[in-house]
Amino acid sequence: MADIVVGLQWGDEAKGRFVDFIAKEYDLICRFQGGANAGHTIVKDNNKLVLHLLPSGVLRPDKKNLITAGVLVDPDSFMKEVTEIVSISGSLEGRLFVDERATLVLPFHKEEDALEESARGGVGSTRQGIAYAYRDLYQRLAIRVGDLFDPKILKRRLKDITEFNNQIIAARFGHPPFDYKEILNNLEIFSDFIKPYVVDGVEFIHLAEREGKSILFEGAQGTLLDIIYGTYPYVTSSHTISSGALVFSGIPPQKIGKVYGVFKAYITRVGKGPFPTEEKGKWGELLREKGSEFGSTTGRPRRCGWLDLPLLRYSAMINGVTHLVITKFDVLNGIDPIKVATGYELNGRVSELPPASAELMEHVEPIYVEKPGFTLSLKEKNYGELHDNAKKYIEFIEENLQLSVNYISIGPEREKLLIK
Ligand code: GDP
Ligand code: IMO
Ligand code: MG
Repeated sequence: MADIVVGLQWGDEAKGRFVDFIAKEYDLICRFQGGANAGHTIVKDNNKLVLHLLPSGVLRPDKKNLITAGVLVDPDSFMKEVTEIVSISGSLEGRLFVDERATLVLPFHKEEDALEESARGGVGSTRQGIAYAYRDLYQRLAIRVGDLFDPKILKRRLKDITEFNNQIIAARFGHPPFDYKEILNNLEIFSDFIKPYVVDGVEFIHLAEREGKSILFEGAQGTLLDIIYGTYPYVTSSHTISSGALVFSGIPPQKIGKVYGVFKAYITRVGKGPFPTEEKGKWGELLREKGSEFGSTTGRPRRCGWLDLPLLRYSAMINGVTHLVITKFDVLNGIDPIKVATGYELNGRVSELPPASAELMEHVEPIYVEKPGFTLSLKEKNYGELHDNAKKYIEFIEENLQLSVNYISIGPEREKLLIK
């Protein structure tokens, strides 16, 4: 059977931290979408590690990890991250696998992303070339990991994709062309590096499944950044929701068991786009400071606001969440009162779900309730030890979403996760 972990907000819900914890219950951990735009932070033995591309199970030496077909592999990030993990925890051969169907991010993808952001003020991307690499995949121009091992195909595809991208960046930004030969040379070096990890990911997952291995899919970004169900166009370019795990890895629906929905006790966003409960003043600054809300990939200050239940309701629904995981609960320590949006008002109408359009979402007025604050000693080891108001806050969320909160994170370290 396979379970899925997804983020229910705009990313950075502390998915990496939860996956690192829960990975102990699984044999195989799979990253299924996105690319090096993710920044998943894991704190182990007082060391902080940020993973962008590798699944968050790599720090557990007895676990296997797979990058599935729908992921974008950036050669630079891959080599850097593998080298870093190998230096910490030894060889990854036999522990890390990459589906030969995964798509490569090429230098012009990152360049166009950066040019779009700086020249035209894009959506506030991470500049990892995500939108442009997926564009070329859907345009049927992409180079996939498996192509690296067929010199004829690699040369032909690389010529086509380089020509296409050179025309675009010249026309849109007057940028000089990328040298096909230089990219080819670098890809030849990369193909030697990645070769020991490459497998047929579909065969790999199905074999694992048949052998009775337990599989965990790790989402990147968050539901509200999904290319269709997110706050379009202020989104990323993949399916971040639980069904994305199916499409982007080739696992069929009847194999899926639990869906863990991870969310912060408040909410943050990096980049542009509507954000109904955003606090631009002192409350936002307080949440940013207490939660150290600065991007793991770009270092940008994250926009901060109060927990938004219409968004959570929507996300829980789309993902089919079975288990809720609330993170950064300690950040609310001492904040009194705590505001929570229970609905939206738009043109005199009250709604419990967000509108489909980002433009309308800019205009909704959150309807707030205020909950009494609480203090935590941060020595709590189980749910029962939490302050009464803390429990009431959690129960309030459960009633509103009609789902149980099963895990409460009160710190970034592995052991600071309370099980309810
Ligand atoms: P992800 O992208 O969803 O994996 O989340 P990020 O790693 O980008 O952001 C989460 C941040 O919060 C990281 O810096 C974590 O170390 C930190 N963190 C995770 N859980 C907790 C928690 O319960 N409390 C606090 N204070 N920090 C946490
Ligand atoms: P994790 O996995 C938060 C945001 C960017 C931008 C939009 C598009 O750490 O939760 P992209 O580079 O994907 O084309 O940018 O999506 N974004 C994220 N925000 N966490 C992430 O990943 C994100 N990945 C992309 O800020 O608004
Ligand atoms: Mg992150």
